[in-house]
Amino acid sequence: MLLKVPYLLFVIILRFPNSGSVQYKKSTVLISVLVRNKQHTLPYFLSNLERINYPKDRISLWIRSDHNSDESIKILNIWINSVTNQYHSIYTEFEDDDKTYMGELGVAHWTDDRFEHLMNVRTEALNFARKIWADYIWSVDADVFIQNPDTLNYLISKNVTIVAPMLQSEGLYSNFWFGMTEDYYYMRTKEYQPIVQRKNISCYSVPMVHSCVLIDLRKDESDYLTYKSSEIENYNGPEDDIIVFALSAMKNGVAMYICNEHLFGYITVPLEENDDIDMDIEHLLNIKIEALNQDSALYVKDDLETFVKQPKKDKLFFDKILMINLKRRPDRRERMEKCFDELGLEVEVFEAVDGKLLNQTFLETLTFMPEFKDPYHKRSMKLGEIGCFLSHYNIWNQIVANNYEITFVLEDDIRFESFFISRLIKVMEEVLKFPNWDLVYLGRKRLQDKDEPWVKGTQFLVEPSYSYWTIGYVLSLNGAKKLIDAKPLTKLVPVDEYLPILFNKHPRDNWKNYYPERNLIAFSAAPLLIYPTHYTGEEGYISDTEDSIIISDNIIYKDDL
Ligand SMILES: *[C@@H]1O[C@H](CO)[C@@H](O)[C@H](O)[C@H]1NC(C)=O
Ligand SMILES: *[C@@H]1O[C@H](CO)[C@@H](O)[C@H](O)[C@H]1NC(C)=O
Ligand SMILES: *[C@@H]1O[C@H](CO)[C@@H](O)[C@H](O)[C@H]1NC(C)=O
Repeated sequence: MLLKVPYLLFVIILRFPNSGSVQYKKSTVLISVLVRNKQHTLPYFLSNLERINYPKDRISLWIRSDHNSDESIKILNIWINSVTNQYHSIYTEFEDDDKTYMGELGVAHWTDDRFEHLMNVRTEALNFARKIWADYIWSVDADVFIQNPDTLNYLISKNVTIVAPMLQSEGLYSNFWFGMTEDYYYMRTKEYQPIVQRKNISCYSVPMVHSCVLIDLRKDESDYLTYKSSEIENYNGPEDDIIVFALSAMKNGVAMYICNEHLFGYITVPLEENDDIDMDIEHLLNIKIEALNQDSALYVKDDLETFVKQPKKDKLFFDKILMINLKRRPDRRERMEKCFDELGLEVEVFEAVDGKLLNQTFLETLTFMPEFKDPYHKRSMKLGEIGCFLSHYNIWNQIVANNYEITFVLEDDIRFESFFISRLIKVMEEVLKFPNWDLVYLGRKRLQDKDEPWVKGTQFLVEPSYSYWTIGYVLSLNGAKKLIDAKPLTKLVPVDEYLPILFNKHPRDNWKNYYPERNLIAFSAAPLLIYPTHYTGEEGYISDTEDSIIISDNIIYKDDL
């Protein structure tokens, strides 16, 4: 009897050695992936999926692929082989007997069979996750690129039954709706845009999330969720997997959330009815360019790189495509070169004149326009602006020296609009119908609000009014000659004042008087195809011209900014 008490204590101490610091394992997650004809997106999709910051031994993968007419299954198998031992388990079902559905007219044609198959397969994934007691199911489509590795942890931390990370895309497309019509289709609302553009940042309860959805299966209300209309009582909506799912949630009072508190990644725009697979590849390109525009990039791991096809490089209509780049900004050059690789543009780098390195002796050879005052800052030209002018001036000289008939000039802090190449081709086809033209703006800042007249007989060209920026323009040989013959170094103004003076749309007559020949024939693409990466005053804006030293009356002093 006396012996028993210490013995019991001993047992208790052995059994709970560290009761204060128990580490729970992460919740178990089944990631379900459906793949069809996605050989172009899969290398990016899978590489990003693998980078998700979550213990792989707590993740099960459920991957289904069928009705392919491309190499999707091959790519999936290669990837799966490379990660097999890392994930807790991988369930696959690959079928390559049927390439299409009966009666299917193209990749963007949704037959009843195709919808039904999708509803069945999604429901199968959901039920499979329930059966293996997964805590969560994360259903991620193969055209989603999760760039932020903490996305899954973040979604789980929200502790709601249905949640999706807001994904970026082309224009205003995203993976949620803010409104739903009475017959359960997309409804435009005023709340949508500020959420997509992240002017409002939070998690929002919405009637629809899709393409990348986390469901907490531990919450009993999740039992009502389904993608199959036959499992919903009195279902009267369309036979469409995402709408059925949204209605199964709505009818059972399960809220769906979309969160935009961080940048999570991208999603491609879905195809329209008559699109073909090439359009899907175009949409992917738009996403890749958009990522580069935002100083990011779609990641692809080495093993899958062979499946990524890059276009052949071409100069299109141009004798030369020249990008102005300061030697001390290799970062910008590198980002732009990645864009050119994706777009298939053969571009030469043209070394910019660095205003900061200009010496007094050289500056004394320039003559500034006496009236010139920077109208916004009310001060004289800055060294950066002088360097910028000289960079463009040197290009114009090179054009003339080499007799380049058509030259595309770009700066290196720009972003390309979606479908850049096909739109550029349309613009140039119109321009080249004119026997006489000198300059075409592809990007600019309009300074006057009044309507600009369309260039007669064109769909994509306007006559530009007073505008700033020289971020991207096309110049003819004749145009380059006019810009040089006007002798701008003898009455210097910033280059984005100079161009409107020469095409005679500058509002200040006293400035114009210094340049009696103002006959530059200028067009502008409408809509524009190029924008700056950052606007003045926006967060992250660093301009090589704005923060440099200013010069006044040939005396150099430090900018007070
Ligand atoms: C998660 O939400 C439920 C209510 O849905 C709540 O009871 C629970 O305490 C929450 N858990 C955490 C960790 O916040
Ligand atoms: C977005 O922000 C505006 C301004 O703060 C606010 O009025 C509006 O209600 C917000 N929208 C949503 C959906 O919360
Ligand atoms: C000043 O700059 C000019 C042009 O860049 C150059 O040719 C010249 O050698 C420089 N002079 C001095 C004193 O550094």
